[in-house]
Amino acid sequence: MGNSSSRGVWRASLPVLVGVLGIGLAAFSLLLPGKPPQSAPTAPVRTVTATTPVEVSKAPAPTPSPEPLPPRVDCTQVPCVALTFDDGPSAYSEALLDKLDELGVKVTFFNTGQNTANRPESVKRQVESGHAVGGHSWNHVQLTTISPADACADANRTADAIKQASGVETYLVRPPYGSWNDAMLAACSDKTFILWDVDTEDWRTHDAAQIRDHAVGDSRAGSIVLMHDTVAESIEALPSIVAGLKERGFELVTVPELWNEPIAPGQSFYNGPRAG
Ligand code: NI
Repeated sequence: MGNSSSRGVWRASLPVLVGVLGIGLAAFSLLLPGKPPQSAPTAPVRTVTATTPVEVSKAPAPTPSPEPLPPRVDCTQVPCVALTFDDGPSAYSEALLDKLDELGVKVTFFNTGQNTANRPESVKRQVESGHAVGGHSWNHVQLTTISPADACADANRTADAIKQASGVETYLVRPPYGSWNDAMLAACSDKTFILWDVDTEDWRTHDAAQIRDHAVGDSRAGSIVLMHDTVAESIEALPSIVAGLKERGFELVTVPELWNEPIAPGQSFYNGPRAG
C-alpha cells in the first residue's frame, strides 16, 4: 500500500510540479527572449534597405524621353522650300557642310550607299548638323532597270549603310534619275520616294549663276530643289541661293519639315504643301 500511497502522492503532486516548471520556464523565457523580438524588426528594415528599391525607382526618373522639338515653321501655312543634295558624300562634302553651317540653313542629303560607306564621317556630320538624310541607291543604279524586289534590296542596303554611319534610320529614297514606277513603290511600301519640282541642272551646266537662277527663280511654296553634293559650283552659288529665296519670302527647311507630320511610307512626292 505504501507504494500505492507514495505513488498517489507523486501523482497528486505531478500537476503541481508541471505547473511550477511551466511557470519557471515561462518566467525564464520572458527574461531571455527579450533580444529576439527586438532584433527581429531590425532585420526586415535592413532587408528593405539592402534591396534599395528607392534607388531602382530613381533610375528611370533622370532619363525621361525628351519632348520632340516643335517644327520650326508650319509649311502648310508659310511658304517653304527644301534644298536637296544628291550623290554624296563626296570630296566637296566638308566644304558644303561648312558653308551650310555659316548660312545657318538645313538641307536634305540623298546619299548613295557606296559613298556613305567610303565617307561615313561626312554622313555622321550631316545628321549631327541637323540636316535630313535619305538614300539614293547603293551605286546610282537606275532602279527601274532591275526588279522591284532588287530595287527594294538596294534601297534597304543603302539605308543600312546610312544607319551604320549616322545612327539614323531613313525610309526616304530619291531614285536616281528620278526613275521609279508603281510596281517599285508597291514592293518597297516601307519607303517613300522623294522627287523634285525644281531642277538646277547643276551637274550639266556647272554654272553658278544659272544654278542660282533656277533655284531662286523656279521655286514655289513647297518646292523641292535638286542640286548635287558633287558640283563645286552649287556650293559657290549657295549663299546667293539662300539670300534670293529668303528675299522672296521662303523659309528654308528639310524635306521632312515640309510636312507638319511624319511622312507616311509608301508614297511619292515631287513637292511639299503649296502654302498660301
Ligand atoms: Ni544622282
